[in-house]
Amino acid sequence: MKRILVTGGLGYIGSHTVVELISQGYEVLIADNLSNSRAEVLDGIETICGSIPEWVNIDLSDNEKCKLFLKNKKLDGIIHFAAFKAVGESVNNPLKYYQNNIFSLVNLLEYLKENRACNFIFSSSCTVYGQAEDLPIIENAEIKTAESPYGKTKQICEEIIKESSVAYNLKIIALRYFNPIGAHPSGKIGELPIGVPQNLVPFITQSVAGIRGELNVYGDDYPTADGSAIRDYIHVVDLAEAHIVALERLLADNNESNTEVYNLGSGKGSSVLEVIEAFKKATGEKLQYKIARRRKGDITAAYADTKLAEKNLGWKAKKTLEDALKDAWRWQKNQM
Ligand code: UD1
Repeated sequence: MKRILVTGGLGYIGSHTVVELISQGYEVLIADNLSNSRAEVLDGIETICGSIPEWVNIDLSDNEKCKLFLKNKKLDGIIHFAAFKAVGESVNNPLKYYQNNIFSLVNLLEYLKENRACNFIFSSSCTVYGQAEDLPIIENAEIKTAESPYGKTKQICEEIIKESSVAYNLKIIALRYFNPIGAHPSGKIGELPIGVPQNLVPFITQSVAGIRGELNVYGDDYPTADGSAIRDYIHVVDLAEAHIVALERLLADNNESNTEVYNLGSGKGSSVLEVIEAFKKATGEKLQYKIARRRKGDITAAYADTKLAEKNLGWKAKKTLEDALKDAWRWQKNQM
């Protein structure tokens, strides 16, 4: 049985990936310090999978603790999700982001340096592209100066990974997520934003649930067909599956370079107003919204060219926007 460490395995994308790993016969070890997750997520995983993976509460950015934790561990792979991801917070407290996101990566790479057979999957983001010149966005598109320290940590981490993977002959895949949404169709695990959700879909579901006020649509004066901004929304279960095929590629030694990078998106752009309509259609619920000013730092449009992931990973998003919104709503209702 292959043993995989999932850092941030109790978080949003991490927990869905843990479920996929377990159901495909992997042994999973979770490292998560609950900085943006809850221990109860394990109950959801157990209900879906019928077993509970081992979980260690640890801050991986602490070099000594991380070393001790990984000492003598035999791992076939590490999927590294554990990182802070709030754009606004990173602007107000950049050192928190550099300390956590970069140190934990470096500490894990130290293990890989000594254990080269261990494969590594890194959570990156389409944020590394900023507003791309050409759409859909290909992996070779220019990496622009990041808008936020959060975005910068993703860019820096990718650089650290590329250099280290060549210097120590490591096998790594960095996955650039577009906009992950939705929840497991069982309704047992999903996104658990702390405080007021900053992301569109959790705000929509909480607004419809009556926990938040009406939705602000940030900008209707973008140069798009309906004036609202366009993103590539990808179902979190499709995203989780991509991690397994990426891991399998490395386990089978099929990678063509030390570090490979893939876009993970649906390949389709949807505007904020289209998401609102899709939500109404998928759930039959009413949704109040008003047009507000553009949000600082937002770009006009981003969606992925997914040909490379299709060709090399044999992966393509299967679920629709409506599927994702239906699942997000089911999850929200289960919270009430
Ligand atoms: C944001 C981050 C991105 C990060 C991702 C993680 C910014 C600028 N980007 O992506 O770096 O990787 O989250 O999940 O913060 N919207 C509304 N009303 C709302 C909330 C959002 O109209 O209440 C709009 C936004 O203006 C945007 C779209 O919905 O056009 C999607 O927003 P969001 O879900 O926050 O994702 P991103 O901003 O694309």
